[in-house]
Amino acid sequence: RRRTTVLRREAVLATVPVAVAALLAAAGPAAAGTTGTSGAGDPYFPLSGNGGYHVAHYGLTLRYDTATRHLDGKAVLTARAAQRLTRFDLDLKGLKVTAVTVDRAAASFRRSGQELVVTPRHALRAGHRFRVTVAYHGTPKPVTDPDGSTDGWIATDDGAFVAGEPQGAMTWFPANGHPADKSAYDFTVTVPRGHTAVANGAYLGRRTAHGRTTFRWRETRPMAAYLATASIGRFEVERYTTRDGIQVYNAVDPREARAAAPVLKKLPSVLAWESRLFGPYPFRAAGSLVDHAPRVGYALETQTRPLYDSAPDLSTLVHENAHQWFGDSVSLTAWKDIWLNEGFATYAEWLYTEQHGGAGAQKTFDSLYARPAGDALWAYPPGDPGGGARLFGAPVYARGAMTLHVLRRAVGDRDFFRILRAWTAGHRGGHGTTAQFVRLAERTSGRHLAGLFRTWLYTKGKPHRA
Ligand code: ARG
Ligand code: ZN
Repeated sequence: RRRTTVLRREAVLATVPVAVAALLAAAGPAAAGTTGTSGAGDPYFPLSGNGGYHVAHYGLTLRYDTATRHLDGKAVLTARAAQRLTRFDLDLKGLKVTAVTVDRAAASFRRSGQELVVTPRHALRAGHRFRVTVAYHGTPKPVTDPDGSTDGWIATDDGAFVAGEPQGAMTWFPANGHPADKSAYDFTVTVPRGHTAVANGAYLGRRTAHGRTTFRWRETRPMAAYLATASIGRFEVERYTTRDGIQVYNAVDPREARAAAPVLKKLPSVLAWESRLFGPYPFRAAGSLVDHAPRVGYALETQTRPLYDSAPDLSTLVHENAHQWFGDSVSLTAWKDIWLNEGFATYAEWLYTEQHGGAGAQKTFDSLYARPAGDALWAYPPGDPGGGARLFGAPVYARGAMTLHVLRRAVGDRDFFRILRAWTAGHRGGHGTTAQFVRLAERTSGRHLAGLFRTWLYTKGKPHRA
């Protein structure tokens, strides 16, 4: 969530690059015979992800020197070929690759922009499970996104804020970097003593030797690469288990501790409240990483452990944790469906306010609907915002949430919350598309809703009727 709702670079419309990208992607992921593809087929980010294989597991062993900002990495990927492969790509931007193996044999590789192109010694059969190791090092740099924000490995004064949405995973590990591919992860991160490295999932322990501390983390539930983190800083750590058996790990930059404390204290009750509305919490671990990274400008729903660039307010905590259901457990198959993440997480904020003594969702809706036709809120429809520059704008967040509110009014509360729970249950750990959500809403409510969604998700300009 943006700390400010200002739309940056709203004027830079990526229409032309998107059209070109659409042409490039039109061939689809598996169209190139026995070579994998350089992208997952997403016109918003044509080079993100790769076709031809799926990654089941990433084993990332990292060592970061906070003083020199040098990263040493070794990635072990366990993957499955979706087709015969004589060659395949990984996403990796910057950094120097020193060795690649496939099934223990040295493989040849070359770099081409953000693609690491790997040619194994022997072709991989369709369906074959294979193991890739990549040794690499260098000074990671964040990637600048089409909207002018940055993501990926963002160095801070005492470590790194590591947030990969939409395309930053490749700045710190070789990835099949599109949410269409979800995987389990193991992290082993070594940092100078006194620093803490925080990744996703369960905390497995740490060991200090020779002035360095190694932290181990494991996320067993499927995770999109953009939701992975290995953030580093001088954090204060707090651990406990909630009544529901969720293991909480909070890491807080001391400069943010005083402001963060009252909000973080609410995490168990927020998760319990969200579980009542959205269905059981999808993961075993939870928590927060509150960094002091003032130049970042946003928070990210890193799986099991959202990342905040400063002490969050309660609404932001509600938002990022709602993403654990909407975006993390149920993931996008294409970036154009981003409202399934941001519209839902924003609506969770409205619902929280409504049920905790604040304004009703109708009131929030009304004040947005009152905005004039020329307002940035109506600049483009949220169902297919039109390119990577428009993923995180008001039409996606606020009009996306308005769409859910209009749905709620049309079907009534009972069916509305049934739809939300059926969505998270039916797609848990996997993916969902807008078309599937619309079908589910129609099936659950027994109503024709195509017109409603057409108006609110796909029709340009301010909808005529609220
Ligand atoms: N998904 C995040 C949130 O709304 C926002 C990420 C923004 N990323 C970016 N590169 N600007 O919680
Ligand atoms: Zn969000």
